[in-house]
Amino acid sequence: MEPLRATATVLVENTTTRPDLYPEHGFSLWIDTGESKVLFDTGASGVVCENAKKLGIDLSQADAIVLSHGHYDHTGGLADVAALAEKAVVYAHPAARVNPAGREIVLSRTPETVVPGIRTTGEVERLTDFETARQQPVPFPDDQGIYFEVEQGIVVVVGCAHAGVVNTLRHVSQLAETDRIYAVLGGMHLASATRSRLKKTVKAFRDLSLQRIGPCHCTGEKVINMFEREFPQEFFPCRTGTVITFGDQGG
Ligand SMILES: [Fe+2]
Ligand SMILES: [Fe+2]
Repeated sequence: MEPLRATATVLVENTTTRPDLYPEHGFSLWIDTGESKVLFDTGASGVVCENAKKLGIDLSQADAIVLSHGHYDHTGGLADVAALAEKAVVYAHPAARVNPAGREIVLSRTPETVVPGIRTTGEVERLTDFETARQQPVPFPDDQGIYFEVEQGIVVVVGCAHAGVVNTLRHVSQLAETDRIYAVLGGMHLASATRSRLKKTVKAFRDLSLQRIGPCHCTGEKVINMFEREFPQEFFPCRTGTVITFGDQGG
């Protein structure tokens, strides 16, 4: 499969780039490859629909809606989005417990190709020893991300990364059979992480030679700032209204 070119637009995040867009605690990302359109998560309340409209994005064109996990701040807009996105197939892990009325939904624990070139991670293998909560692996088996390949490597998108962002990156590396991970963006759930976990996360990002790092949402404000300090070249802000291009038009 040829590497994709894609434009990703943040439709919902805790902060915003523009006063006319509604930020909220949640996440939603629109990915347009030219051929296909995927909505990853739906925010908390349905403001995703208004934000999309203001950003010139037509949700009725979505081919797939992928839910990263069952938390309200990622699934709360599903009913509103599904009413617009009539042809979209919904993808989630069975433990996410989502059931959009009258919609085709693919419930899967394993990776699924949702449109050509874009795959879910399926359940994320807990591979690290430091991405734990109280010395236990973090629960939330439903947590998953998506990934796709662009010219420079693999782009990984996470919702809350309850499974651990480094676990997710390593899992994708195994699935895609490459360590050329180019970018990661999304909620990384590190607001209450220990210093030692943060240090190990930064080291893992360096070891992977990530070239673009867009932490947002539940990563936590201070931790987002830390990433910006640690990775001044690679960091990019990821707020409601941010547009990121991947592939040869955007680097
Ligand atoms: Fe979240
Ligand atoms: Fe969550």
